[in-house]
Amino acid sequence: MPWIDPTLLTAFAAEGTTAHRLYSEPGAWIERLGDDALLSYQNPERLPALAAELEEWSKSHHLALRRIYSKFLPKQNAERIAPVLFRGEALLPAQSVVQENHLRFGLDFAASYSAGLFIDQRQNRVALTRLKPKRLLNLFAYTCAFSVAAARAGAETLSVDLSRKSLQRGEENFKLNQLETERHRFWAEDVLPTLPRLYRKKELFDVIILDPPTFSRGEKGRSFRAEKDLPALVQECFDLLTPTGHLLVSTNCTKLQSHDLEAMCREALRYTRRQADFKREPTPPDLPLAAMPTTLWLHLK
Ligand SMILES: C[S@@+](CC[C@H](N)C(=O)[O-])C[C@H]1O[C@@H](n2cnc3c(N)ncnc32)[C@H](O)[C@@H]1O
Repeated sequence: MPWIDPTLLTAFAAEGTTAHRLYSEPGAWIERLGDDALLSYQNPERLPALAAELEEWSKSHHLALRRIYSKFLPKQNAERIAPVLFRGEALLPAQSVVQENHLRFGLDFAASYSAGLFIDQRQNRVALTRLKPKRLLNLFAYTCAFSVAAARAGAETLSVDLSRKSLQRGEENFKLNQLETERHRFWAEDVLPTLPRLYRKKELFDVIILDPPTFSRGEKGRSFRAEKDLPALVQECFDLLTPTGHLLVSTNCTKLQSHDLEAMCREALRYTRRQADFKREPTPPDLPLAAMPTTLWLHLK
């Protein structure tokens, strides 16, 4: 069924979540993001009909939408641009706030291709909260959504991302949730040299989130390619985990499947003579499997 089951709308309202998928078809989908909707599409000819369907569906399901943003999905990452306003009041600010399990996150439709929250990590943020983390290391933290979830559960956090701007938005997310930022660190730097430095400083974390992009160019022009560089990062994370720590490895790289992530972790386990359980969170009810990143939780024992 392309539109979500209406009972799910009620369930999201009850759990305090206003950021979720509404509709999925091959090459297009619609997300509800608070009071707004974001329609992502590959084929521009499909856009007007989909927007009309959305308006009809939202009316019949009593979901009031303030604006519709549209986002073209290009084949090349280099052609990615920020969403544009398709329908609604142009003078309203492009920033808004959404909720996920009663946590609040700021969005900015004008900032870049991504508005500020990856809804496909919702289950992993719930899983993180369930672990009752004490010290979280959030690598490639973006707007610090994992850090906010951990902080709300009582953890102190270290968020690392090359983009100072994204980390500033992360700090704003802490403030949106009345979380003191004094107990939390936001380091705008390249993850690759950061990990050995944390090891030399003998820092340990009971939960590490490792969610890198498929490709990026870091400090000093150094490139990162998940397919090639992720195994070494997994190894280095092991050096920073407490004896019964937890590691989330996640990737959107289509060349890496769940068994590849498990193989990387097993290699690190062998090398460090440790043992662990593996767990995969179930696909959330509003998202098709094809839309999900490949993710794996490792629980040391
Ligand atoms: C896919 S996003 C991570 C999403 C995030 N884990 C979340 O759930 O919201 C990738 C992030 O990695 C950052 N990044 C890319 N290369 C980096 C590097 N070498 N060191 C640190 N951050 C990097 C980007 O700035 C971007 O914010």
